[in-house]
Amino acid sequence: MSKFTHHIFVCGKCKPSKRLGKGKTHDPGKLRAALKKEIKRLGIKADVRANDSGCLDQCDDGQVIVIYPQAIWYGGVGVEDAERIIHETILAGNILEDLRIPDEQLRCGKSKKSDSTPPQQKQEG
Ligand code: FES
Repeated sequence: MSKFTHHIFVCGKCKPSKRLGKGKTHDPGKLRAALKKEIKRLGIKADVRANDSGCLDQCDDGQVIVIYPQAIWYGGVGVEDAERIIHETILAGNILEDLRIPDEQLRCGKSKKSDSTPPQQKQEG
């Protein structure tokens, strides 16, 4: 089974947050379309995919996208950022610091329980 090198998920529910810079356009549908257009233009469709997603639980950072399997989270993403994301992050492997959501701000992987160790990994006695 083939795998994508990068799978981009664009939250389709985000509202624009204060992270969205001046002059940037908030439009999840147009953002995804712009990402797909550049992926197609570059002929990398077999390796890179951009899909809509539901809420990614990072709503305060809208517009949010996440790129897997690298687990790169970007917020405040405008339609104008699409080409830069493809060229800088997908092709060149660079993190765009102005868009990156810092790890300590990510909600994913944080359990509400104080002990998040899965039961099967706990040591007895
Ligand atoms: S609505 Fe987009 S991350 Fe929650």
